[in-house]
Amino acid sequence: MRFIEAIIFVFLLLQTAALCNSFPLSTKARWIVDDATGKRVKLACVNWASHLKPMFAEGLEKQPLSYIISQITATKFNCVRFTWPTFMITRAEYGNLTVSQSLDKLGLKDAKAGVAKNNPQLLDMNVVEVHKTVVNELGKNKLMVVVDNHISEPNWCCNGGDGNGFFGDENFSPDEWLKGLVAVATMYKGNPAVVAMSIRNELRGDRQNEPDWYKYMQEGATTINKINPDLLVVISGLNYDTTLGFLKSKPFATTIANKVLFEAHWYTVGTSDEQWEAQTNLVCANMLQGAEDSYMFLIRGNNSFPLFLSEWGIDETGAREADNRYMSCFLAAIVDNDIEWALWGIHGSYMLREGTVNMYEPNGILDFDWVRPKNLSFVKRLQLARQVNQDSDPSHPTSHVIFYPQNGQCVQVGETGNIFLSECTSTSSRWEQNEEDGPINLAGSSQCLVVGEDGGAAHVSNDCSSEWKVASRPRLQLAAQNGLGSYLCLEKNAADATIVTKKCLCLGYDLADTPTCDENPQVQWFKLSPVTCKLQWFTTKLLD
Ligand SMILES: *[C@@H]1O[C@H](CO)[C@@H](O)[C@H](O)[C@H]1NC(C)=O
Ligand SMILES: *[C@@H]1O[C@H](CO)[C@@H](O)[C@H](O)[C@H]1NC(C)=O
Ligand SMILES: *[C@@H]1O[C@H](CO)[C@@H](O)[C@H](O)[C@H]1NC(C)=O
Repeated sequence: MRFIEAIIFVFLLLQTAALCNSFPLSTKARWIVDDATGKRVKLACVNWASHLKPMFAEGLEKQPLSYIISQITATKFNCVRFTWPTFMITRAEYGNLTVSQSLDKLGLKDAKAGVAKNNPQLLDMNVVEVHKTVVNELGKNKLMVVVDNHISEPNWCCNGGDGNGFFGDENFSPDEWLKGLVAVATMYKGNPAVVAMSIRNELRGDRQNEPDWYKYMQEGATTINKINPDLLVVISGLNYDTTLGFLKSKPFATTIANKVLFEAHWYTVGTSDEQWEAQTNLVCANMLQGAEDSYMFLIRGNNSFPLFLSEWGIDETGAREADNRYMSCFLAAIVDNDIEWALWGIHGSYMLREGTVNMYEPNGILDFDWVRPKNLSFVKRLQLARQVNQDSDPSHPTSHVIFYPQNGQCVQVGETGNIFLSECTSTSSRWEQNEEDGPINLAGSSQCLVVGEDGGAAHVSNDCSSEWKVASRPRLQLAAQNGLGSYLCLEKNAADATIVTKKCLCLGYDLADTPTCDENPQVQWFKLSPVTCKLQWFTTKLLD
């Protein structure tokens, strides 16, 4: 590298670092871009709840604010979806409570003692001031914040009959909701940490209907934009934020250009351990199709919008098989589509949830005492999902990595043409498949991926006769015929990081999906996922 190039390189690196706190942001088709540089910004957020009965960010009774934020940055999230309940903002009898009064009212003695110990400076502030304090502290640590109107009456969210589900419900007057949006948009005006407001979480219940949805979503978006035009506005779907399919026939008309994105929530809800165990490929394929029809379509075509999967998550202890299997299905999709997302959540516990005091959260990044991540392998698995993999300029050349969602790694070529899994980095091997069911090339070379013996190592060489089919219902298994004419699939070797070719799981000899399958095909799930060439990725350096 010549001296001048080195200078430019260092300058670009510094710019990339500064991007962590970009403001304001806009949308450009399906991407979010930084107004100042035009470069893509990706939301890789974690949820942090501040809308439950105490109206106070969870965990501040267990660890100092600065410590919790240090864990968020150490686990490499670049953003926080930070919730608020309408009444905290619109009703003095809620918003004027100090933390101390709010916890007293709920009889949360231990939580109060915990705040006194860990965050004494917050105890006599009112809950609105604490919300601002947390946002400012996140900003100081270069984290972006999406403030989320999560519910009206402070409480765990949700059920359909809780009076907070849709416009006109007992606790959900449209006027009071708008008043809340106005106050929060005003409160955070000019605050560079706050990049977006999501205007209502998980609309639901008997009252929901599309005409009101269009009316109030447009009114909410326009209202925020008038007060605080810097903000992105995030719009949620119906049915607990799972349904936006109606936008296909009636697109969202908005006068606020380049500021609107949509959010959706994607959990394992509706699938059981037994279903996943019996038919992993089928359940995953059905989930992917459901997501495509309900919201993923928004990122495609000429009238595309960014999509923010603002809640997803699993039991991180591995205790729930449906969650374990869904995780790889979900990760393959978000990496392949390079989508914005927010994990639920950072919480190791809740002060008071659904009547339980100091309740454990298996889906939270941190452990019960909010000291360290519960499961570092879970955090590491998110690495590629966190990166900007495709930039917003469609003219830039792209290639592919081969992503392995089971552990979040990428397929790498070794010196002898051997292939193995390793962390996805800027130097991970790039691949191209230029024709459907054709050879897979190592990008920029004449070398190809070669099928091995049954159980033998797959490798890379000048032999380009292996033709790879993208097989299985969710299109996640890569199969090629060996010398004897039978199909074998790529599979991670159980004993080490090498990749072998083996009998395709849950597929017949003709690669048709078998009607039933009690094996787990996920050891064979690989996804050729697009990446723009020349993007810089960080490597994961996590706390141990
Ligand atoms: C709290 O009380 C003060 C004075 O009583 C009032 O001006 C303010 O608007 C109240 N705050 C909220 C959030 O209602
Ligand atoms: C998208 O726009 C291009 C160019 O304007 C047009 O040729 C194409 O038909 C459009 N595609 C769809 C799906 O509308
Ligand atoms: C982390 O998650 C994996 C499943 O993805 C599980 O096997 C492992 O036991 C978990 N580790 C801890 C410490 O919970």
